[in-house]
Amino acid sequence: MTMTNRLILGDNLKVMSRLCESDAGRFQMAYLDPPYNTGGTPEDYADARDHDQWLQFIGDRLRALRPLMADRGVVFVQIDDREQAYLKVLMDEHFGRDRCLAHVVVKMSELSGVKMSHAERRLPKVKEHLLIYGMGPESRLKNLRRPKAREVLSGYLNYYRKIIDNPEAPPAQWELLSIKDWAKARGGLEGLRPGSRQEAKRLEDLKLQEAHRVVYRTNNRLLAERNLPGIAEVFGPSGRRYISWEGKQILFLADHIDEPLSDLWTDLSTINLNKEGVGSFRYSKKPEALLHRCLQLATEPGDWVIDPFCGSGTTAAVAHKMGRSWLTIDCEDHLLSQAKPRLEAVMAGQDEGGVTGLLNWSGGGGFELIRWTEVEDATQVIEAVPPN
Ligand SMILES: C[S@@+](CC[C@H](N)C(=O)[O-])C[C@H]1O[C@@H](n2cnc3c(N)ncnc32)[C@H](O)[C@@H]1O
Repeated sequence: MTMTNRLILGDNLKVMSRLCESDAGRFQMAYLDPPYNTGGTPEDYADARDHDQWLQFIGDRLRALRPLMADRGVVFVQIDDREQAYLKVLMDEHFGRDRCLAHVVVKMSELSGVKMSHAERRLPKVKEHLLIYGMGPESRLKNLRRPKAREVLSGYLNYYRKIIDNPEAPPAQWELLSIKDWAKARGGLEGLRPGSRQEAKRLEDLKLQEAHRVVYRTNNRLLAERNLPGIAEVFGPSGRRYISWEGKQILFLADHIDEPLSDLWTDLSTINLNKEGVGSFRYSKKPEALLHRCLQLATEPGDWVIDPFCGSGTTAAVAHKMGRSWLTIDCEDHLLSQAKPRLEAVMAGQDEGGVTGLLNWSGGGGFELIRWTEVEDATQVIEAVPPN
């Protein structure tokens, strides 16, 4: 039976317990963004529990989630400082301490607003945590790379001053020119005052554009010992290929313009979230870019993703645009007033926010809106989007 995407109105513990019958082992990824136990009512849901009750609430849900996860599945839980340490211990107990794949610290707000009113006696809080656990020994996070920040890159770019004029030729015949002379000869610096900031900026842009043939020479003991004349290919003892230039190693800019993604995420924008989705959901809505990164780390197109704390529907919206199948649950009416219209817009290609542009998303697909019924302890399809 082909399963469709599902938006489920109901208590997530009851729904997940029920899903064991139809969806055991289905999900490659779970993203949980539970109430953080802030002690307030941030929007349309209560978030004030006794600490022990909160732990019980989360523990019950982790237990109900486990059988739904694939053996190689990955669970992400987002949390702020208040309960983070306790949640970590709880997740260690539920999934195993050695199953923790990463503890990411993510910048979730800007240095502005209410948090600044206490800034003279406290450090303003701008971070949250993502605790990421694998379900089995085969669970993996992908090795993603991301562009280096321009300020960091500018430091590197200073060193890369030569360009290979004829990179298609064998290395021994390469002609290395100064990038400035190369650009000048092609009219690339016309109208720019020599030594001006504009000229420097144009040269940086050209270096990035031609990164596959922009080079720098660095010391290398193996190549120094061989001290070959001119430019030559050299293979090290393990078979690794080097390009030697008069005893030094040639490095290519293209190999240094990005870096591996670490467990410190400060690059995701958290402003203008009101432009993502249909309602404000101001204090709880997560950026689409954050979910995009999590989904990139742990899933492939066609994989199933579950979010038991749907809120405004961010996970489902992004998973859908990325070609993943999804199931998401919320017990409050904003599932109908925010998540449902948001996902309808995604299907219809009318959602212009978030990662739509990045992914060239133009619509398609559908989902079922399902209600969990208290009386029969069962789920019931109440609407198909688009209609059958
Ligand atoms: C922090 S918000 C999630 C926000 C979401 N990630 C987004 O980007 O919009 C937590 C959500 O969990 C829901 N929730 C709380 N307790 C629940 C329960 N027992 N069953 C289902 N949903 C629940 C709340 O209604 C709220 O929408």
